[in-house]
Parts: sequence; C-alpha cells; structure tokens
Amino acid sequence: MCGIVGYIGSRQVSDFLIEGLRRLEYRGYDSAGVAVMSGGEIQVRKRAGRVHELAALIDSSPVQGNLGVGHTRWATHGETTDTNSHPHIGGNGTVVLVHNGVIENYAALRTQLQGLGYVFRTATDTEAIAHLIAHHFDELMLMGENPADSQTCLRAVESALPKLKGTYGLAILFKDHPELLIAARNGSPLVVGVGQGENFIASDASPLVGHTNEVVYLSDHEIAVVRADSFEVHHREDGRRDPSIQVIDHVSEDIGLGGFEHYMLKEIFEQPQTIENALRGRLDDEEATARFGGLNLTPQQLRRINRVVLTGCGTSWHAGLVGEYLIEEFARLPVEVEYASELRYRNPPLSESTMVFAITQSGETADTLAAMRECKRKGLPSLAICNVVGSTIAREADGGVYLHAGPEIGVASTKAFTSQVTVLTLLALMLGRMRNLSFQAGSRIISHLRAMPEAIARTLECNDAVRDVASRYHDVSNTLYLGRLYNFPVALEGALKLKEISYVHAEGYPAAEMKHGPIALVDEHTPSVFIVPRGHIHPKVMSNMEEIKARKGPIIAIATEGDDKVSAVADEVIFVPDVEEYLQPLVTAIPLQLLAYHIAVLRGCNVDRPRNLAKSVTVE
Ligand code: G6P
Repeated sequence: MCGIVGYIGSRQVSDFLIEGLRRLEYRGYDSAGVAVMSGGEIQVRKRAGRVHELAALIDSSPVQGNLGVGHTRWATHGETTDTNSHPHIGGNGTVVLVHNGVIENYAALRTQLQGLGYVFRTATDTEAIAHLIAHHFDELMLMGENPADSQTCLRAVESALPKLKGTYGLAILFKDHPELLIAARNGSPLVVGVGQGENFIASDASPLVGHTNEVVYLSDHEIAVVRADSFEVHHREDGRRDPSIQVIDHVSEDIGLGGFEHYMLKEIFEQPQTIENALRGRLDDEEATARFGGLNLTPQQLRRINRVVLTGCGTSWHAGLVGEYLIEEFARLPVEVEYASELRYRNPPLSESTMVFAITQSGETADTLAAMRECKRKGLPSLAICNVVGSTIAREADGGVYLHAGPEIGVASTKAFTSQVTVLTLLALMLGRMRNLSFQAGSRIISHLRAMPEAIARTLECNDAVRDVASRYHDVSNTLYLGRLYNFPVALEGALKLKEISYVHAEGYPAAEMKHGPIALVDEHTPSVFIVPRGHIHPKVMSNMEEIKARKGPIIAIATEGDDKVSAVADEVIFVPDVEEYLQPLVTAIPLQLLAYHIAVLRGCNVDRPRNLAKSVTVE
C-alpha cells in the first residue's frame, strides 16, 4: 500500500505534497514524509504518525523548493518510527526516494550492498533500492558516464530495477538534478499528471484533482522521466514509448466531507444515489434483462458459460457471497467464491466455460490483481467488477462492469458493497434471462430493482434508532452477527465493519451454525446481532434467537417494519423496509454499517482511518 506524490514545476512544492498525501492517506497512515530539492540539497522531513503531524513538522521547520516527493506509509518492513518513514536516502545522499510495495529479496541486496560499503540506517526494504540505484549511478560514473547528464540517472534506475524481486511504485530524486523527477512502476500503481509547465506523480489520480485532469497511467516495467515542461515514458524491454494521455472527469466536491462528520457516514448516506448510479442505463424493459456496455462477451460466449467463479478480498469477497446466491438462484449456474489470496496460488480446474470475475472497489488490491492475472494466463477472459476508473484491474481486464459509486474514502467499505451487490444482481438477471428465467420473472426483478434507491433512502431513516442502540452497547468486547441465506454474507460484513473500525471482536456466522461453537461465547455481556427480515426462513431464525435468549444473550435484531414477533423476543429492534428476499442485503447491510459507525464514534475510534488498516492493499 502506501501513497506516493511528486511534483516538478514552479510552485512551492510542500503545500501540494501535504494536500496530496492527505488525499492518499487512505492507502496507509503509519508515518509520512517529504523530500524537497532546495538550493542544491535534498531536504527531508518525515515522522511517524499521520499527515497532519508531518504538516506540523513542516510548519515548524519549513522547506522551500519546486521539486519534491512525498509518502504516506503502511508499514511492511520495519516498525513505524521516524527513521523508518520514507523518503529514504541512497549512497551519501545521491538519491532520495519513496516506495510503495514490497521488495522480497531486500535481505540479500542489503548484505551485498553492505559488503560494498553502503551504510543502512533503517529496517526497511526500501533503503536497499535507494542504495542500489546510488550504486549503479556510481558505477556508471566510473565507466565514464557524465553524472551531470540526466540520461545517467535514467540508466542507473534502468540497471537497478531488474535486480529487484517484488513490487514497487517509486518516485526518485537525484541530488544533482533539480530538473528531474523519475517514477517507476512494477505492481504498485502510479499515474503521471500532465500540467502546463508543471507535472505530477501520484499513486492514484486523487491528488491531481484541482490541478490537472490529464493523466498517464504507468504500466508495469515503465519508467517516467518527468521534467517541468515535458515527460517521457520508457519500458524495460521496448525502450521509449508513446504515452497515452487520458482525460479524467473528477468532480472535486466528491472528495469533500459534504457536511458529514466522517467520510464513512457520508458514504453510507450516499447509497440511494450510488445504487441509482449502478442501475443507470442497465435495465432493459424490452427484453426484461440487464445489459452491460463493457462486458465484451458475445451472447454465444455468455450462453456457453457453465460455471462462475467470483473472487475478491474483504468486503468485496462478502459481496461475492451474495452474488453466489443470486446467480445460482436466477441462472442455475454453479458459483464458487474464492478469496483472491487463495485463488492466486491454488490450481483449481478452470475450464474454458468458466467465467471468473474479480470484484474490487479500488481495482488495486494486490491479491485480486494477481488472481485475475493467473486466470488470464490460463486463457480465460479477465473480467472485473470495479469502482475506480483507470485502476490497474480496470485497465488490465478484458471486460467488466463499473460500479459508478464515486470515490470511497472511508477505509471501511460501505457504498461499494451495496453497489457490488447491485451489479451482481444485474449480472444474475442477465445470465438468468439467457437460461431459465421467464420474461415475467425478469420484469419483476427489474421493477424491484428500480424501487431500491427509494427503499435504501427509507432504510437510512433508522440512523437515530441505531445511534440509540449503539449508546447502550458501545462498551461490549464480543459480538456475534447471525443471519441465514442472503443475510449470512451480510452477517459476515456487519461483523467485519465492527471489527475494522471499533476494534470490538465480532464473529459473523450462519444463524443456525452458531450452535456448533460460537454459542459457547454467549452470556449476558455478549450481544448477538440477528438479521431476521421476513422470508421463508424467518421462523427458523426466530428459533435461533430463542436459543440465544435462553442463554441470557442480549439480542439486537434487524427486522422488517411491523414485525411484532421479533419485537417480542429481541432486546432491541431496528426496522428496515420490506423488500424481496434476494434484495434484502441491500437494506439489511445499512443498519449494520451505521451500528459499527456509531459504536466506533462512541468508543473514540478514528472511523475513517482505523489502526493497522489501509483502504487499498497493494501488498500480498
Ligand atoms: C482492504 C479494505 C477493505 C476492502 C478490501 C478489498 O482490506 O480495508 O475495505 O474490502 O481491502 O479491497 P478492494 O478495493 O479490492 O475491494
């Protein structure tokens, strides 16, 4: 993970770097730092802690210059100390760089470079890259190359990078080259922002909002040589390449708080709109089906599919579980949901009639990307359900579906989950209509889907009731989340939300399965959150609730409006509108997102930046 920014031009660089790092903080926030070219020297300011602590350091010890790089860290190698924070220095200060990724052979490189006299000051893998580039620079000089020529810097980078095993996004400064910023990518995202008399580097386009909307997404093994008024892209094997400049349409207000106290709350409340966006243009009344512009598969190819694999991590994996139930029910196709981190190293049978979908909000999750590449290598079309336009997975996929949910900044995913579930419902409808789903059934699903934005808006009215419940339960240490069928993945997701942002232990389970273990945890201090909306399994879940109650476990229930049976048993009830069973996850997930949010706020946790987590996990 980690976030990288870089700037070269004519403005004072530190303001841009700090603001850019703030926007990238979702990628990690263990420590932050900048390096600025200032009067022929590279000045470094860095410290453990959040970007605002770095900003305070720079306020008290300012640094002036028009070229610089910045970094916000999610620690992999080395504790979160000031010393281990990026930027890192190579040689005697010849090179200063920031890094996103993991260098697997750093220990061997470290030993070799120490043998050559390089002194390591940190416990990071990154320092080995800095010394390695400095070493190649020195070698080139010994071979007679001109150190004042910027080509020597490029050649030093080009000769060092093939020695690295692992992943990197790098932004590199050379002490004697105030005209030059070099960026390199392998496995970790990097984008060049193209300005007028100034250019930018960033891990994603968010720091560029308000500065430029022209970008070049770097591909693996590409190096960008960036100057104030020009830039070039070189590829490790192909040499110089013509960069393709893309125009992005960011609306800068999207990344503001819009009057909400936290991004997470803002994003929860955006869901009526984001569901509308996920449906827009995709409902086909004439054919009673769904259509997607970017799937890039012919009806014949879609008809030949006899198995579906959905893969992803975290919340996206939970959305995949809902997708499994939907696709199996509507299309009668067998579905498997695989953790991407497992799929990438497993060797499951994948026939040519299997369709694999990578599900990802960010489009940058390392395991999901690797799983998609592995399937692609086996000759399958690479397909993705993704939110971030221009992300690595979106660009590498042969086809797919965008969520159109807008930037999700809160680290705990909320609106992306409901958008993913909506897209999977559309996919199930489309695959179903190509098989056994009748026109009438397709039309019914369409009209139910059309009603969802309104149903979600009504669901959000439970916010005050949820806050009230949270005020009575925020000091618990353990919780169970229990649901069945479509609401089992919702139970997993609700438990994940609570764990992620309030650090309360929470386990999600199929409600009936809790008898086989988790029930041992139940006592008067361990609440169970039951997801028990109306439906054919309702009486069974009620029995499971009674089993908990008989053991004095407090019960918080998510139930359908007007369900007196649940009110009679549960200690607390949060009501949601009545929707079709297969659409229930879209409404039942919402009070659970709010419950986690309010409990975290009451516990004084940092809701948008929970400890140890990052929004975009670009390391294995
Ligand atoms: C991280 C985030 C989660 C997210 C998961 C998968 O763990 O904290 O919120 O669900 O990555 O991310 P993706 O962007 O691939 O959906």
